[in-house]
Amino acid sequence: MNDRTALVTGANKGIGKHIARLLAAEGLTVYVGARDAGRGQRAVEEIGAGARPLVLDVTDPDGIARAAAQVDRLDVLVNNAGVSLSPAPPAESDAEEFRRTYETNVFGVVEVTNAFLPALRRSPHPRIVNVSSGTASLAWSTNPNPQFTPGSGGAAAYRSSKAALNALTVFYAQTLAEEGFKVNALAPGLRATDLTPGAAAGGDPAEAARGALRLALLPDDGPTGGFFSWDATPVPW
Ligand SMILES: NC(=O)c1ccc[n+]([C@@H]2O[C@H](COP(=O)([O-])OP(=O)(O)OC[C@H]3O[C@@H](n4cnc5c(N)ncnc54)[C@H](OP(=O)(O)O)[C@@H]3O)[C@@H](O)[C@H]2O)c1
Repeated sequence: MNDRTALVTGANKGIGKHIARLLAAEGLTVYVGARDAGRGQRAVEEIGAGARPLVLDVTDPDGIARAAAQVDRLDVLVNNAGVSLSPAPPAESDAEEFRRTYETNVFGVVEVTNAFLPALRRSPHPRIVNVSSGTASLAWSTNPNPQFTPGSGGAAAYRSSKAALNALTVFYAQTLAEEGFKVNALAPGLRATDLTPGAAAGGDPAEAARGALRLALLPDDGPTGGFFSWDATPVPW
């Protein structure tokens, strides 16, 4: 199975670049999705063997169609590209912040997934990994838990966008189950990347990438429609 291919969106840096590196190390040909060609090319050169550049802005439908036309068969799609624009609670956000966040984190995932479905359907074992966030868990947000203070409604646009992504994960999984797809969401844990400036407690993004790799290479009897932490623990919705 060394002719497998993968696409990781937003793979020019952060968690996505680590996911692309791990998939390439497993012998897959990995399309390194990047909205900027130069940043994508630099990541491809850093990753080395197996990495291929693919210009892909997940908010650009025409660009997505052009990218999809370059990929014949796809075994793994990792919807990793994401933005977090502010820590504001909803009362201090505006609809425009929600729109801009959802363009990338939700609508972009729908556009990319649907555009690459024909290529995924050519795989004998198609896998989709949606990089979500533990901060999207409504169970964790409303109950005492070690991760979040109950009732703190900050980063509302980002967290609700990832909750919508979780819903999409369930619906895609249900719709595609009979075709052999495995579609799961990943909570990578707090990681030190450009998305989390000043998060001194952020862990190693490579560790989160190993959780994505596990979901990307699930066996046929593996789960679908689930939400898993980087360490494979199920996360409550
Ligand atoms: N870091 C954490 O603690 C954490 C925790 C939970 C979940 N996550 C999730 O993990 C994923 C990766 O985040 P990260 O922490 O690695 O952040 P990051 O270092 O900021 O990387 C984000 C990536 O997404 C790309 N991107 C943003 N908008 C895009 C668009 N319209 N089209 C294509 N690519 C786009 C960025 O490209 P540019 O370089 O061009 O901006 C970059 O490659 C995100 O979905 C994030 O929500 C992260």
